[in-house]
Amino acid sequence: MYRLNVVGCGKVGRVLAAALWRGEGISEISVCNRSLMSTRASQEFVGAGRICQSVQELPEADLWLVGAQDSQLVGLDETLAQLASLRAGQIVFHCSGAYPSSLLRLVREKGAAVASFHPIQSFADPARALDSFRGTLCSVEGDPRAYEVLSDLFGRVGAQVFRISSEQKLICHAGHVFASNYLVVVLDAARRLYEQVGMSDEISRACIESLARGALMNVSYMGTDRALTGPVARGDVELVRAQHDALGLIPKNSDGFDPRALYAILARAATDIAERRGEVDSAALRDLRELLRVGNES
Ligand SMILES: NC(=O)c1ccc[n+]([C@@H]2O[C@H](COP(=O)([O-])OP(=O)(O)OC[C@H]3O[C@@H](n4cnc5c(N)ncnc54)[C@H](OP(=O)(O)O)[C@@H]3O)[C@@H](O)[C@H]2O)c1
Repeated sequence: MYRLNVVGCGKVGRVLAAALWRGEGISEISVCNRSLMSTRASQEFVGAGRICQSVQELPEADLWLVGAQDSQLVGLDETLAQLASLRAGQIVFHCSGAYPSSLLRLVREKGAAVASFHPIQSFADPARALDSFRGTLCSVEGDPRAYEVLSDLFGRVGAQVFRISSEQKLICHAGHVFASNYLVVVLDAARRLYEQVGMSDEISRACIESLARGALMNVSYMGTDRALTGPVARGDVELVRAQHDALGLIPKNSDGFDPRALYAILARAATDIAERRGEVDSAALRDLRELLRVGNES
């Protein structure tokens, strides 16, 4: 059984602490946020935990979950490294998807095993995130002992834990940004084009949901190469040309939205997939690349 300290028990911290508490690996929890009110709310959410008014009040623990925002991590590393209660052999981890465990340099110098533990889901609604925590993918990067303990503890409460190296961390996070954030950007471009042609909000949402759902299902069944459909995948150069030209006729928006340029970038990337798949002839691939080449957007 492990004693757990949570420094920064916000959206992510409280879900992870509550998930661990529901399992059988944690004997006691202590919690500390910046404000006492927020610490009380965290304790209530977790359903357990001693409330500490400052980091200095935190007791000795086997595991330290540093769930503060990324911008706070370096400062907290300094603070934690000065605590008498933080000793060699303990495990300290933060939850940033972008930054590596080496952010906890001073704590590691004190002999703690450090890790970054990144749950790959949105915690905007902690209650929902907790309810659906089983199956959550979590990447861990850092010291081997920290990986061993975290993968065991979180694995026991249903997380799918996998290891990544420090060097891979930032690139892996960029992958998450494409799979999540930029997917939204692409769907927003669709929404704006539908708006442009006067489609109702209701129909627009329905089109986006139906098409995006279908594409996602295909990606998960067949992988990205085989899931790509549409004019580039068919090598239909004339249709790509017509769409590219039509988008150029839409008056430029004051917020800089430029659907033609976005279309060209994505269609170039689609051409690469079509080439990999080997179903479009080389003349069509050449024509697509010529049509979509950089500088041809406007
Ligand atoms: N949100 C997500 O969907 C998500 C997903 C995966 C990973 N992450 C990562 O998880 C980490 C936490 O994000 P979050 O969204 O949970 O942040 P959050 O909801 O803003 O919570 C941060 C918590 O840290 C506390 N805190 C900040 N500085 C502190 C300090 N010096 N001492 C003690 N407590 C401190 C805050 O206390 P107060 O409440 O008193 O201000 C707050 O409770 C970040 O590294 C983030 O990148 C987030």
